[in-house]
Amino acid sequence: MACDIQDPFGRAIRYLRVSVTDRCNLRCVYCMPEHGVPYEAPDKLLSVDEIARIVLLLSRHGLAKVRVTGGEPLVRSAEVIDLIGRISAIPQIADIGLTTNGILLERHARALRAAGLKRINISLDTLRRERYARIARMDRFDETIAGLHAAEAAGFSPIKLNMVLMKGINDDEIADFARLTLDHAYHVRFLEYMPIGQVTPHEWRARYLSNDCVLDRLNGEFAMEPIEVDASSTSRRLRIEGASGYVEVISPISHRFCAGCNRLRLTANGALAPCLSDNYEYDLRGPLRAGASDDELLGHIRAAVSHKPVQSDFEGRVNRGGSLRIMAQIGG
Ligand code: 5AD
Ligand code: SF4
Repeated sequence: MACDIQDPFGRAIRYLRVSVTDRCNLRCVYCMPEHGVPYEAPDKLLSVDEIARIVLLLSRHGLAKVRVTGGEPLVRSAEVIDLIGRISAIPQIADIGLTTNGILLERHARALRAAGLKRINISLDTLRRERYARIARMDRFDETIAGLHAAEAAGFSPIKLNMVLMKGINDDEIADFARLTLDHAYHVRFLEYMPIGQVTPHEWRARYLSNDCVLDRLNGEFAMEPIEVDASSTSRRLRIEGASGYVEVISPISHRFCAGCNRLRLTANGALAPCLSDNYEYDLRGPLRAGASDDELLGHIRAAVSHKPVQSDFEGRVNRGGSLRIMAQIGG
């Protein structure tokens, strides 16, 4: 294989997260301001052809895994299905996933599966309908659950459920979420709340809860066993003894996993973002649309990757009063 793309710390890029849109049909309190954010003009978003070209190029230099995200990727469903079909035809890409809020999955799960999608992560922060309406600022719980069931019926397995843990908002549901794994082969994932977007240090700290609390509560309530995961994984995995599914904790704040980081993000408007914890991005759309050759594009990609920091610094940043682009802009 042609040589890998490495950052200055010797980490090779194997994993690309592609945001296909900054739009979303929810307004989750930890992600979006109530009235949304100004969206990119459609002509500033990369086309399926442009994204597929970048993925293909990276796949010749070590990329093995792609995740399609947003915003809510399925607001561009026809293009997402096309894109997934094209990416899944690239032999080097062993793994292709989608992160979605599930609302549009009932309609599209089968077509996504037929296009070659392997994994689905559904964002679900609560199992209670009224609470969902408060967190997502839209009463669409039933659609998300219908989407989850449609994904199961379409044969996706495992299905991962992403729960952003927030003190005083949903931390009383830790055991309920874990209990879901008893009879379902879901991976229930607890994500630490990150200070992304316009959040003050005070607001963030009032809501942030370390995943150590999750582990304490789980160990207090269930017989938990640790499960091995590979070194580049961002999560720790456990299982309630005898359960069908797993519980995972993803702890970007309390237990940074940067040493094994092999990922790069492509934003909806065509920039490469080497790290979630700072605002640095490198424009690729300009060169793409100016007719750059593959070698020239590769040069730009290497330049972007050379800016990957050794590790994240969410706390330092929020303490200094800095704010980060929201997830919907950079791509969860
Ligand atoms: N902190 C933690 N997780 C977040 N997500 C969005 N914003 C934040 C945040 N501030 C989650 C979404 C989705 C995943 C890609 O990232 O809920 O599941
Ligand atoms: Fe939409 Fe995801 Fe942001 Fe919620 S967290 S508003 S579902 S992009």
